[in-house]
Amino acid sequence: MMPLLDIRDVTTEFATADGAVTIVDAVSLSVDRGRTLCIVGESGCGKSMLSLSLMRLVPAPGEVSTGQVLLDGQDLLALDEEAMRSVRGRRMAMIFQEPMTSLNPVFTIGDQIVEALRCHDRTTGRKELERRALDALVQVEMTDPVRRMKQYPHELSGGMRQRVMIAMALVTRPELLIADEPTTALDVSVQAQILDLLKRLQEETGMGVVFITHDLGVVSEIADEVAVMYAGQVVERAPVADLISDPQHPYTIGLLASVPELDGAAARLHAIDGIVPAPDSFPAGCRFHPRCAFATPACADTQPALRAVTPAHQVACLRAPLEEHW
Ligand SMILES: Nc1ncnc2c1ncn2[C@@H]1O[C@H](COP(=O)(O)OP(=O)(O)OP(=O)(O)O)[C@@H](O)[C@H]1O
Ligand SMILES: [Mg+2]
Repeated sequence: MMPLLDIRDVTTEFATADGAVTIVDAVSLSVDRGRTLCIVGESGCGKSMLSLSLMRLVPAPGEVSTGQVLLDGQDLLALDEEAMRSVRGRRMAMIFQEPMTSLNPVFTIGDQIVEALRCHDRTTGRKELERRALDALVQVEMTDPVRRMKQYPHELSGGMRQRVMIAMALVTRPELLIADEPTTALDVSVQAQILDLLKRLQEETGMGVVFITHDLGVVSEIADEVAVMYAGQVVERAPVADLISDPQHPYTIGLLASVPELDGAAARLHAIDGIVPAPDSFPAGCRFHPRCAFATPACADTQPALRAVTPAHQVACLRAPLEEHW
């Protein structure tokens, strides 16, 4: 069966005075209907830039230079801007990393949801659109939805604003939702409520979800499949249970080791030494090799390609599988 979203070899570059810099490098991934793909990686790995590439919202002077983004078989990168505008919002919607910057401070919540609807439906009357906007607030379990319709973003808490963002994204019933760290700014209990809400809405609608996070605790909650990104590339990809029980890439192993232990006692946090390189100074060979405890001289020369360790589990590491080295 054709996946809902099929990302093929997508590369996104930014023009600079010193030539093009590659931010997303030949990424291939797919998402089925009703499923959640989590994309994880440290800050600066290119997660947001990948999601903007899927929506064709990469800011200039950046652009998707090669690849295909097939939504139900149709290449979004080949559409003209008008056709793409109609796909955006109606068939695929995005929740951005920072809810406050994506809500307009001078319009009421109700007006903003009505506007999201009106972008794709110019024939339905105002009263009916307001009714649908109110329904959307009810659907995201907003307390006191009638009053919220008339409130402004600054009158709401962070968790309520994020519910408004979800309501706005889902009010047009998209087939695909792209959520870029939608819970990062929220405290843990509100975060859990929002994740539950997204899961429930996904069960009701059957939409596919691309969920971006750097939090592996969140991944274990909601992912079906996980892609680990490092320095613009996918370095490991697997069903969530395989990734957590049998991580193959040293970067993934490091990320998992940096999750605070959940036994309530001393939360231990092992960060991976070093930092993500900037896109204009990616090292030769494996981009992770300068930080990798398992690196050999070959790792500094050869860029490892993604290869299958099991049919569903792929890794880009010359040394995988690593078991014998522990
Ligand atoms: N407008 C831009 N122009 C040039 N480079 C950019 C631009 N926006 C982002 N970058 C660079 O692209 C790389 C990837 O950034 P991106 O925002 O996609 O990372 P991320 O994985 O989403 O990080 P975070 O977890 O902090 O959100 C970074 O090195 C960043 O500096
Ligand atoms: Mg980001």
